[in-house]
Amino acid sequence: SVITPPDDALLHWYDRHRRTLPWRAEGGRTPDPYHVWLSEIMLQQTTVTAVIPYYQKFLDLFPTVQALAAAPQEQVLAAWAGLGYYARARNLHACAQAVVARGGFPAQVVELRTLPGIGAYTAAAIAAIAFGVPVVPVDGNVERITARLFNEHTPLPGARKVLAGLAQGLNAGAEAQARPSDFAQALFDLGAGLCVPRAPACGQCPWQASCAGQAAGTAASLPRKMPK
Ligand code: ADE
Repeated sequence: SVITPPDDALLHWYDRHRRTLPWRAEGGRTPDPYHVWLSEIMLQQTTVTAVIPYYQKFLDLFPTVQALAAAPQEQVLAAWAGLGYYARARNLHACAQAVVARGGFPAQVVELRTLPGIGAYTAAAIAAIAFGVPVVPVDGNVERITARLFNEHTPLPGARKVLAGLAQGLNAGAEAQARPSDFAQALFDLGAGLCVPRAPACGQCPWQASCAGQAAGTAASLPRKMPK
């Protein structure tokens, strides 16, 4: 059996330190799936700080997924200019059209995965954050947190499956099950604010006492990576 850290410690930390971001809903409300999807696609290649002005420009130009779907492709590509990877903008447009054709965003991971440009990570992020499905979206931040918590020394990319499996157990507790949207976002904030790549702030971490990497003194060096 896998030991899981106390989910409520992370959520209590999040309640005190949560970042205000334009795609997050305030007042304990669940954010709009269009907002979550758009932000997650943009965040795949760019930092939060760089994404914010693009995200706001997109919502000004295309306030709904219907507006985005109906826009001419040139306008979508022009609004994307500067974010890079035009294939992503074309997929974004195609996905908006598919969502409108089926009458809205699906709530389940398996249905989300059938949409253009939505892979395992993005499907889990939308399901958890926008629809409250108790699934853990595993990006680089969550891989790093998990490798440290379990003191997993197998290098990436080989460790990817093991880490994804361990990460899915992080939300096993009652509080994470009750707050899947906050739990996913709390992991992002932990990875961005404390459990950062080179010099983690373990002294402030809500999971310090249950972190095997911190106990072993290896946290800062995890996850390991195969030399290229
Ligand atoms: N990185 C990926 N998704 C994020 C989100 N929803 N909030 C903050 N950082 C993120």
